[in-house]
Amino acid sequence: MPWPIGLVPRKYLAAQLRRPSGLFGRLVLAPMLNRRNAAINIAVLRALELEGGERVLEVGFGGGDLMSRVLLLVPGGKVTGVDFSRDMVDMAARRFSSAVGSGALELVCAPVEKLPCPDASIDKVCTVNTIYFWSDPVAGASELFRVIAPGGRLVIGFAPRETLERLPVTEHGFAKYEPDDVRALLLDAGFCDVSIEEIEDPDGVDCCAVAVKAS
Ligand SMILES: C[S@@+](CC[C@H](N)C(=O)[O-])C[C@H]1O[C@@H](n2cnc3c(N)ncnc32)[C@H](O)[C@@H]1O
Repeated sequence: MPWPIGLVPRKYLAAQLRRPSGLFGRLVLAPMLNRRNAAINIAVLRALELEGGERVLEVGFGGGDLMSRVLLLVPGGKVTGVDFSRDMVDMAARRFSSAVGSGALELVCAPVEKLPCPDASIDKVCTVNTIYFWSDPVAGASELFRVIAPGGRLVIGFAPRETLERLPVTEHGFAKYEPDDVRALLLDAGFCDVSIEEIEDPDGVDCCAVAVKAS
């Protein structure tokens, strides 16, 4: 039987969406995120244009749906998953133990504003449904720019302000962005060629922002 998510207090649900934790985070929220966000994850995956051997970073992987798809598309490459929820990192370590064991996947508990990656060490970066929770968006965008190698690509999946405003849970601690806000944030961080595509979603429209670091 599906969990009656409408019965969960909104403030608690918002805090869980920001940083899933405990039994609710692991057993209820993570599987729900994986189901509900599969469409935006697939759009982000396409926009990444992955190739074997690439070094990929996902920030805020939550239940790991996108990370599982990325791992399949970069044979011989290296995936780094960063999330500031210790429980999501531990859950991913169990789910993807063979990829961790073989060295194909590294998991780190850290915030987007302080990424555990050397300068210019990543070819492709993705993050989905996390930008609302960055405590310092300018620092976050600048960290993403720092870790991407010249010629590398960043893909951000997010629901724009209009879509979030239809969801009452987002009254509690969600920063809401227009597509142009995200474009400006990425251009200010140093990215070029920023494009934003709209994707249909059951709750409205989602966005997929693609930005390139000049070679
Ligand atoms: C709403 S969930 C989205 C999970 C997944 N990307 C999806 O779309 O289904 C947000 C995830 O990003 C992580 N997160 C939120 N803000 C973060 C930040 N500033 N730095 C790192 N991780 C963050 C949370 O811990 C959580 O796992």
